[in-house]
Amino acid sequence: MELINKANKYFMETYAQLPVVLVKGNGSTVYDTKGNSYIDFTSGVGVNSLGYGDTEWIKAVEEQSKSLSHISNIFYNLPSIQLAEKLVDNACMSRVFFSNSGAEANEGAIKLARKYSFDKYGKDRSSIITLKQSFHGRTVTTLSATGQEKYHNYFFPFTDGFKYVTANAYDDFINNLDSGVCAVMMEAIQGEGGVIPLEADYVKKVVAKCRENDIVVIFDEIQCGIGRTGLLFGYNHFDAEPDIVTIAKGLASGLPIGAVLCNEKLSKVFKPGDHGSTFGANPVASAGALVVLDKVCNKAFMDSVITKGDIIKGFLKNKCNTILEVRGKGLMIGIQIQGNAAKIQKEALSNGLLVLTAGPDVIRLLPPLIINEGELVKGLEILCQVIDK
Ligand SMILES: Cc1ncc(COP(=O)(O)O)c(C=O)c1O
Repeated sequence: MELINKANKYFMETYAQLPVVLVKGNGSTVYDTKGNSYIDFTSGVGVNSLGYGDTEWIKAVEEQSKSLSHISNIFYNLPSIQLAEKLVDNACMSRVFFSNSGAEANEGAIKLARKYSFDKYGKDRSSIITLKQSFHGRTVTTLSATGQEKYHNYFFPFTDGFKYVTANAYDDFINNLDSGVCAVMMEAIQGEGGVIPLEADYVKKVVAKCRENDIVVIFDEIQCGIGRTGLLFGYNHFDAEPDIVTIAKGLASGLPIGAVLCNEKLSKVFKPGDHGSTFGANPVASAGALVVLDKVCNKAFMDSVITKGDIIKGFLKNKCNTILEVRGKGLMIGIQIQGNAAKIQKEALSNGLLVLTAGPDVIRLLPPLIINEGELVKGLEILCQVIDK
């Protein structure tokens, strides 16, 4: 309690934190200062893709910290070059820019799309369509991009040039398309907005319309990318080839990193001085990310994510009596409940399970991708008990 009082005294009040201080983790289980254990269905909000204590990740990060922990982008560094190649090749894109976070990756994507349009069509073609219920970050521009009214408060003036359309409603998209639109940005599965998957037909039609009009297609894969849904990217479940893909969270399994990937069409848009980031392409984060990609970009690994997603869905369907709906793919699952999600989250914590929420009545599960079946089932048993209580 003393530690929590101290935290509450010194931190700004930005987070409604739960009353535990976590000190260590192993596999998919974490431990608090009192020695209590918790099965982790959160992975630091989709970050710890390899869970806790992966020996190869530790070795790579440790060795890189010893040899070169940081160097500016004035110079090249080895792990970032290796990571760039691995990422670009696996994503079937052309180039990458590295940043530190998801919001920063989306800022980069927005700048890239707008500059592409500016260079080709001039300054009046700059607006970006995003989806209602989306979430794209906490900077002033990415809050603007986020299609939820509750985020458009207090911090005026926000960045201009965003229009919000209803997800999975093609007519609404068409009604908002005009000659000023330069890009469309969407999450294949909306995470913070309630774990809402896009429909394949909607994505296909939107992407085709964008192609017809030279509108840049951006997929924000910050939460649903890097194997989370059982494929490298969430959009891989659809018939879609984006121009820009943003990633962050799970890429380095616990170290800050973000990235903007682009295809050939946009590969020469940024010129020296147009964009940058002090910590971007950091060697230690890159070394960690290389281990993640080595493990995740593998069919057996991806299949295991799909299998575990099926186990979750099957378990909830058969053993949980009061839930309304289960959504999502692989290890990105949203459970629509009748009660209050924050209350369930607290009760789960008291029973040794960490879960996330996504709105007032959705429990969100983002377990480490390496979670084993034993931990998964044990966690689901706790969850169902708490929900059905
Ligand atoms: C889809 C999506 N985009 C962007 C972000 C922002 O990422 P970050 O918190 O790393 O800035 C998030 C974070 O939850 C996200 O889920």
